[in-house]
Parts: sequence; C-alpha cells; structure tokens
Amino acid sequence: MHYLTRRFSFSASHRLNSTALDAKANACTYGLCENIHGHNYRLEVTVRGAIDPKTGFFCNVMDLTEVVKRLVVDPCDHHYLNDLPLFHGVITTMENIASRIWGAIEPELKKRGMSLSEVLVAETDEHWARIRAE
Ligand code: NI
Repeated sequence: MHYLTRRFSFSASHRLNSTALDAKANACTYGLCENIHGHNYRLEVTVRGAIDPKTGFFCNVMDLTEVVKRLVVDPCDHHYLNDLPLFHGVITTMENIASRIWGAIEPELKKRGMSLSEVLVAETDEHWARIRAE
C-alpha cells in the first residue's frame, strides 16, 4: 500500500469554550485559550492506494489539492472557526477540527477514487492531533 500526503496551511481564529461547563470550569480547562486567539494551522491530508501502472501514481495530487482547498482551506482561511458551518456544534479543538475535516472531504475524495488514510491538524509546530482510518 502506498501513501501520499499533501500539506496545507491556513490562518484562523477560534476560542475554546464548552456549554457543558460552567464559567469557572471553562477557565480552569481552557485557560487563555478561552479568549479569541489565532493560529497558523497546518493541515496534512494523507490518502492511500495501489499504483496504477498506466499513470505511475494512485491519486492525482491536483485533485486532492482542489478538494481540500475548496472544502476546507478556503472557507477557513482568515475566518473565525467557531462561526463556520463546518464546525457548528463542536468545540474547536484540534481533535474536533480534524474529525469535521475528515467528514467533509472523505466522501468527495472517495468519488475521485482516493481512500482517506489520515488527517493531521497542527495549531503549532509543537502539538497536533490526527485521525486515522481504522
Ligand atoms: Ni487555540
């Protein structure tokens, strides 16, 4: 099995706040992240497949780029993530962002013959979250 990864980046703001917690618990859980702040997010999307001998690859990276840019990068870049339909109803942690991105792009990639393997979302160079196909 072969894997191909395309890296994207976007700048966006968000805040972490849970309606399931009271004000004190929110402050305790999220600290400064409860305030609106921004990140230069890094997004890495990995697809997998078997090489087609006719083309020498298993996915066209231009197709992958088009799908992720249209469904994720363009709507997110320079926006407040908490207000976007893509993240409606979830706390905009890296884990939830990765899950929603997976849900948004997976069907579209599948239509184009790509099998999604991993979505990685990094807020900084020091920490990130991934979701993988089982
Ligand atoms: Ni943050």
